[in-house]
Amino acid sequence: MNIPDIIIAIDGYSSTGKSSFAKLIAKEFGFTYLDSGALYRCVTLHALEKGLIGEDGQIDKEALLEELKTLDVHFESGPQGSAAYIGDRPVEGEIRSLRVSEHVSPVSTIPEVRAFVDARLHEFGRKGRIVMDGRDIGTSVFPNAEIKIFMTADPQVRAQRRFDEMKAKGQDPDFQAVLDNLLERDYIDSHREVSPLSQAEDAVVLDNTYMTFDDQMRWIRQLIEERFPA
Ligand code: DC
Repeated sequence: MNIPDIIIAIDGYSSTGKSSFAKLIAKEFGFTYLDSGALYRCVTLHALEKGLIGEDGQIDKEALLEELKTLDVHFESGPQGSAAYIGDRPVEGEIRSLRVSEHVSPVSTIPEVRAFVDARLHEFGRKGRIVMDGRDIGTSVFPNAEIKIFMTADPQVRAQRRFDEMKAKGQDPDFQAVLDNLLERDYIDSHREVSPLSQAEDAVVLDNTYMTFDDQMRWIRQLIEERFPA
C-alpha cells in the first residue's frame, strides 16, 4: 500500500498496546517509529539514579532542571528497531521497570520536562513519514498529524497484558500492583495541567479490548485506504 509522507499520531491510556501497534505500522508502511514515552522514562531513570526523587516520591525539581541542561537522551537504530540511550548507554530494559513506571507520570507533569521532550520530538517530526505514540501527540506535539488514533481498552485486560509481558521478561510482578500503577498513571496523565492526555477532536478511537494485532492492522489499512484512496 502506497501512502504519502504523513505523520501518524497514536495516543491513549497506559498499556493499551500503543507501541506494539505503532511498531507494526512502521514495519508495514516503512515508517520510522518513535516512542515519546521512552524519553519521559529516560528523564525519570536519570532522576532516580541521581537521587532526585525521594522515598516519598518528592522530586527535587530545581536539581532536575539543572540536569536537563546537559542530559543527552536519544534513539539509536539497532537490530530490534530504535532503542533509547542516555549518552552512550542503552537503557531500553531499565526504563521499562516498575520503579520507573511508578515515577514517570509525576515527572512528566513538570512543564520544563515536557518542553525538553517536545524539542526532541519536533526534531524527529521534521523528517515526516513517522508514527509516534504517547499521550499528547495528536493534541499538542503534532496537532497537524494527518492520522490521529486514540487507543483504549478495558483496564483488567490491559493489566493482564502488561503482567504477561513482564513475566515473559523473567520479572515477578504482582497483578494488583500492575493494575494500580496503570490506573494511577491514567489519572495523573489525564488530569495534569500541561497537555493532559485527551482525545483530539479529529482522532479516531480504537478500543482493542477484543482485538488481535491482525484485527488492528486490518482496521488501520482500511482507515488509510479511506483517507488516501489510490
Ligand atoms: O507510553 P509510556 O507508558 O511509556 O509513557 C510513560 C509516561 O510518560 C506516561 O505515563 C506519561 C508520560 N508521557 C506523556 O506525558 N506524554 C507522552 N507523549 C508520552 C508519555
